[in-house]
Amino acid sequence: MMHLLKTSDLSAADLAYLLRRSAKFKAKPFGRRSVLAGETVCCYFAKPSTRTRISFETAVAHLGGTPLFMGAKDLQLGRGETLEDTARVMSRYSRALVIRTFEDAEVERLAAAATIPVINALTDGHHPCQSLADLLTIQQQRGKVAGQKIAYLGDGNNVAVSLVQAAALAGAHVAVASPDGYTLPDAIVQAARAVADKQGGSVLVTRDPDEAVKDADVVYTDVWLSMGHSDHERAERHRVLMPYQVNAAAMRKAKRDALFLHCLPAHRGEEVTAEVADGPQSAIFDQAENRLWTSMAVLYALVEEKLEGAS
Ligand code: CP
Ligand code: NVA
Repeated sequence: MMHLLKTSDLSAADLAYLLRRSAKFKAKPFGRRSVLAGETVCCYFAKPSTRTRISFETAVAHLGGTPLFMGAKDLQLGRGETLEDTARVMSRYSRALVIRTFEDAEVERLAAAATIPVINALTDGHHPCQSLADLLTIQQQRGKVAGQKIAYLGDGNNVAVSLVQAAALAGAHVAVASPDGYTLPDAIVQAARAVADKQGGSVLVTRDPDEAVKDADVVYTDVWLSMGHSDHERAERHRVLMPYQVNAAAMRKAKRDALFLHCLPAHRGEEVTAEVADGPQSAIFDQAENRLWTSMAVLYALVEEKLEGAS
């Protein structure tokens, strides 16, 4: 397997391998400096980023390479050069391409033309790298992922899609509560259910936030208005999604020692209250740190061809 475009590109063994490799990088961050020695990695971000950009640039440095950051206006893409030509040219210089953009089709076209690994650093549809850090955090904080109940409340967005795919692969019980119009795509739910069945987990989709958080080991949420959404939707999204806010009352319905997770950036007072985000059950900064170790693991595994891919 050469690229990581979505979490469902991974086999269950790949996911387990990446989590083990991430834990090893956490224990020994500078043990593999020859992996990218003398090499560059293109990091093209058409949307803003704090964690993904910094963790990938740092990961490249830890592996001995040099990250090359490109923003939305920097490439000839904006002046009509094709994605395919861009991928072919980057492949002649660099060892990998990390890309954050809007449409999933853009990332797929780059990957089809590239001869170096392409890593999806967030699209409108997926956020696979985030899902790896999410699972690493759950594993570290609760000892295992398999069998854990993971509740996601709110918009069925890119982060939710990748979380559900990762949780299914790891044999967790994932429960997603969203209002009508904001649910996960049906095809994603069906495919994740089939994977979860094989791994001993399950995928529940509900309109009822109480049903999702009941006895949960992990409570997760994300912003109501993502980078790919229009600002015109803001007021309507707030109105419809407010019943899905993760607040102290919602956390009380989960297990007493349930973990609170959020991919960040968080909007306190919207999808989560400050009391929960900054409270004792919150592991959001460990989760953010884990973006670094998982970014290293992804780069390492793709460059060294350690992954088999989903069958
Ligand atoms: N969680 C995440 O992807 O954060 P950034 O948008 O800051 O990269
Ligand atoms: N769903 C959010 C995640 C940000 C990390 C977005 O796409 O903006």
